[in-house]
Formats: sequence, C-alpha cells, structure tokens
Amino acid sequence: MKMVKPILDAQDIYTYFYTESGVVEALDGVSFDVYHGEPVGIVGESGCGKTVTAKSTLRILDKNGKTVAGKILYKGVDLLELPDLQMRKIRGKEIAMIFQDPMTSLNPIFKIDDQMTEVIALHRNCSKKEALEYAIEALEQVGIADAASRVKDYPHQFSGGQRQRVLIARALALQPSLLIADEPTTALDVTIQAQILELIKEMQKKHGLAMMLITHNLGVVAETTKRVHIFYGGRVVESGPTEDIFIDPKHPYTRALFDSIPSLEKDKHRLTTIPGLVPRLINPPKGCRFHPRCKFATEICMRERPPDIIIDKQKARRVQCHHFDELDLHVDETTMQERTHVKEEA
Ligand SMILES: Nc1ncnc2c1ncn2[C@@H]1O[C@H](COP(=O)(O)OP(=O)(O)OP(=O)(O)O)[C@@H](O)[C@H]1O
Ligand code: SF4
Ligand SMILES: [Mg+2]
Repeated sequence: MKMVKPILDAQDIYTYFYTESGVVEALDGVSFDVYHGEPVGIVGESGCGKTVTAKSTLRILDKNGKTVAGKILYKGVDLLELPDLQMRKIRGKEIAMIFQDPMTSLNPIFKIDDQMTEVIALHRNCSKKEALEYAIEALEQVGIADAASRVKDYPHQFSGGQRQRVLIARALALQPSLLIADEPTTALDVTIQAQILELIKEMQKKHGLAMMLITHNLGVVAETTKRVHIFYGGRVVESGPTEDIFIDPKHPYTRALFDSIPSLEKDKHRLTTIPGLVPRLINPPKGCRFHPRCKFATEICMRERPPDIIIDKQKARRVQCHHFDELDLHVDETTMQERTHVKEEA
C-alpha cells in the first residue's frame, strides 16, 4: 500500500454543547484523518456526531458549541489555533462544504451570480467579470444547461437537484483541496440522488480532491470511498480501508450495521434498525458507549473506555473495543458485493 500523508489529521477532538438540560458531549475524543486526493466515508447513525465533526473542522459550530480540546491539523497547521481571519480564508478556498439541504445554503433573495461571483472574486483574487466567467464555467461543468443565462436566475427557479449542482459548482469554483459533503443527496428525490452522487464522484476524481463524504448509506460508502471512519455516540469506533471493513468488520457496532442492511432497503437505507436506543450525549453511557446495545458487553465494557487498538498500522486500521479479538465475529461468505447490493437503488 502506498504511503500517503493526511491532508486533514484530527486528533482527539472534544466538542461540547452547553444547553439548559446540561452539557452535550457530542464529540468525545474523536480522531480521524483524510488523505490527499482520497475520498473517505464518515458513517454512523443519526446523532453520532458526523455533522458536528465537519462543523468543528470548519469552526462553524452553533453558538452554544465549542471544541474544548484536540487538534485539527490541516496541511500540518492546527485549525483550532488559527486567528479568525486566516480561518475565513481556509473556509471555501481550502476546505469547501456541501450541506444536506441545498436550499439552506442559498439565499432565496439573491440571484445565483450574486451568490457565486463575490466569493469567487474574493478567494481567487480576480475581478467580478472574471469571477462570473469562472462561475459560468463551473455551472457548465456540473451540468447546468444554458449556464450563462441561468446564472441570472433565483434559487427557487432551480429544482432541488439543480440547486445541489449549483452548490457543488460554487464549492469547486474556489478550487479547494478538501471537500466535505454532508449527506449531499438525502434531501433529494431518489431518482436524482444517484446523479448527484455520480457528479460528486466525477468531480472528486477530476479535481484530485480529498473528500469527506458523510452518509448513512453503506452502498454509497462502498461505491465511493477508499477508507472509512465508523462513528458511534461521539467516538470513532472503527477505521480502515473500506474494503477491509466491509469484508471483516471488527467492531460489534460495525457488524450490527451490516446486519441491518436487509431492513434498510425497506426504509430508505437508514441505519435505524439496530436494537436499542441511540445514546443520549448528555450523561452518555459510561465505559464503552455501545455497551447498552452490545451483545458481547462484559463488566469492563461498562466501566472502562475501550482504547484505540491498532490492528494494522500500514493500513491505518484501528478499532475501539475491549473484546474485538475474543469475539466470535463470524464473517460468513457474504461478499462485499452482496453486502452492498443496496447501492443499485441508491
Ligand atoms: N446546537 C446544539 N445544541 C445541543 N446539542 C447539539 C447541537 N448541535 C448538535 N447537537 C448534538 O450533538 C450530537 C451530534 O449531532 P450531529 O448533528 O453531529 O449528528 P449527525 O451524526 O450529523 O446526525 P444526522 O445523521 O442525523 O445528521 C447530537 O446529540 C446532537 O443532538
Ligand atoms: S467494548 Fe464491550 S460493549 Fe463495547 S463494543 Fe466491545 S464488546 Fe461491545
Ligand atoms: Mg448530520
């Protein structure tokens, strides 16, 4: 395996939200990395901290949230230590983000060109006229027909899928090195989802982007990413090459995710079928946060946080489980292809 250096290297991040009912420990020692030019999947059920991870990275948390510890190294520089002005330059120009719902990222009262040219001119240090040319070029690249005239339209004059295309164009026009796509297709019609995903994949390859793809859909992960980080309850419980994790998942939660696939088909591929409740992150379970739902849990799991165990250093394969090597985590003959059959419908 080739040795690649991470473009983003997040180490032991703790992000908390301060609410009337108490402190929400949304990220509890999260470490993950993204390599140069490579697509990485961030996976886990609702509320496990995926979006908070992205927002902590870009320092765009809600006002009641704060990253209280850890390092987020981007090209070797700790983003958490950067002055606001420098951070603003990183946002968009170096690291671009596409959100789940394209409408919330576009201002309904401004035409598309107003929402693209200013930011392009600022980040690419060019005139408004040149910025407009870049904007039109980017819109053409993402498949907006007649881009030169459509750029004068308002967001509501575009369909949901087209709006997401516009946002992808805006992100790419800034020529970032890292793209964070947070559930970029979930708000769209099923028929459009595959097209947008295809576009994101194509753009990632064409521009050699590093990408963090946040998703619930394991089929999408298998099809799109080279490596994956599995989140549970504000922690990363397993990481490694996508293929290795699909063939031989080590963590009981990851196993449960795969076991839940057949019922995902019925429910838009959402990972909601693992027995037990998603942990609340105010007063979360002690020890291993998965223990109330884990059929392998023992006394130590309730008491002690599992350490990060490196299974294969070269492959950056690691797992957080006290018993990962003692369990009969029998992997049957199911091939990766069978495990990911949901992708056909994605
Ligand atoms: N502003 C906030 N105030 C309090 N808690 C918050 C706030 N924002 C997020 N959280 C909490 O942080 C935790 C992680 O949320 P996050 O949005 O990262 O989940 P997610 O993995 O992206 O889920 P989904 O798949 O539903 O998008 C959740 O428990 C959530 O309730
Ligand atoms: S540490 Fe214990 S409770 Fe947690 S996943 Fe491993 S076996 Fe289950
Ligand atoms: Mg989210």
